[in-house]
This record gives sequence, C-alpha cells and structure tokens, in this order.
Amino acid sequence: MEAAPEKLEMFYEGKAKKLYATSDPDLVIAYFKDDATAFNAKKRGTVEHKGIVNNRMSELFFNLLEHEGIATHFVRRLNDREMLCKRLKIIPVEVVVRNLVAGSMAKRLGRTEGEVLPFPIVEYYYKSDALDDPLIIAEHAIAFGWATPDQLRQINELALRTNDVLRGFLDQRNIMLVDFKLEFGRFDGQVLLGDEICPDTCRFWDKDTHEKLDKDRFRRDLGGVEDAYQEMLRRVES
Ligand code: C5P
Repeated sequence: MEAAPEKLEMFYEGKAKKLYATSDPDLVIAYFKDDATAFNAKKRGTVEHKGIVNNRMSELFFNLLEHEGIATHFVRRLNDREMLCKRLKIIPVEVVVRNLVAGSMAKRLGRTEGEVLPFPIVEYYYKSDALDDPLIIAEHAIAFGWATPDQLRQINELALRTNDVLRGFLDQRNIMLVDFKLEFGRFDGQVLLGDEICPDTCRFWDKDTHEKLDKDRFRRDLGGVEDAYQEMLRRVES
C-alpha cells in the first residue's frame, strides 16, 4: 500500500468532521469528531466514540458501494478517526432518499412516521446553514448554477442505486433503511459520492421492534445514543 501523504493544515471544520490538506493536492484527510449537533447546531452535545463508529461504518459502506460500481471519494481509512479521501469540489445540494416517511417529511406533509412510501423518493436541499438547508427542486439547482442537468441526472441515479445497495445489505442485518442524506462533488470531471454514511446521516430502524439506531436518539433525547451507534456498527460488521 502506498504511504499516506503528509497531513498539512486544517482548512475546514464542520459540525462532525475536520478536513486537512495533504502533501498531495488531490487528497484530503477527514477527521471524525465525537461532537454531535442537531437542528442546524441549535442543539449540541457529544456522543462518545461516535467519530470512530462513523469513520469505520463509512469505510464499510463506501467499500460496499465501490464494489457495486458506485464511485466515491473514499481512498482508505488511516486510523480510528481519520480517512483519506479525494478532494472534491462539493456540489452544494444535499440529497435525501426516503423509503419510509420520517423526520422533516412527516412534519412538512402531516404524515405519520413509519408510513411506507410506494417508491423511494429523492429530495434536494440547498446546503446553506444561513437558510437552514431549504428543500429545493432540481430547477433551482440548475438555475442558480449549483449543478448542471447532467450532474443532477447522475446524482439521482447514483442516489437510487446507493439506496438499493444499502437497503439490501441492511435488510440482511434486520435493519430498515428509513432515509439518508448524501453529498456529491466533482473530481477530475466525474461526479463522486462524498461525505460520510453513518448513523448521523441515515435513519436505521430495527426491522422487528422499529427501535431507532441512529442520531434521532440524540435529536429527540431518547437516551442510549452510544449503545445504538455501537449496535449499528456491530450489525454492519457481522
Ligand atoms: O430531517 P430529515 O427528515 O429531512 O432528514 C432526512 C435524512 O437525512 C435523515 O436520515 C437525516 O439524518 C439526514 N440528514 C442529514 N443532514 C442534514 C439533514 C438531514 O444527514 N443536514
């Protein structure tokens, strides 16, 4: 295996991750923190070992997706909390795929959480803390130059394929994939899947009990947050 490039200055600190430049301009190191925020950082806390779980789980899911032909920014995991990734030009559109009604969809449309959708629904949100990530339609992204029609077509296809792969994998582990958020970026003229895939960015419910095994335990003060993250890791590693 090639030696990891040298870690240089931190150039971005988000709610859950820090990003470092490296001696290779095409690569960055993502450092996964234990900090947890919700409701656009109006609620803050820490979840012990969360960074370790999210790093490891993202590695596992990115490897699975790459194996299924979905190109991602993942290069390799470096240690407990650090991952080597390709440096993307992030497309400022958060892509949410939903299989069941939950969270903001339940609230916005007055539907019951847990209602099964007849087909997976892809939603777009404009990535803007100042505006609380508003729901948008594809034409907004095109009109304001956030993504081209072709990139959006690719994103839509990649998001639905990701859903199929993750859903199948999780179903075998007795987990329902309720919904999840993806981010994409450009690298070398290609659209790659970026960010992370973990209990911070997905809703995972136990198939039998509907117990929540994701960040909703933190958002809704349900307790047992650390245990839920560990249990999810145990199941995806099994
Ligand atoms: O809150 P909402 O129901 O729109 O979230 C849908 C899915 O996207 C959830 O799995 C949530 O964890 C994820 N999400 C995220 N980051 C955001 C908004 C939503 O990871 N900024």
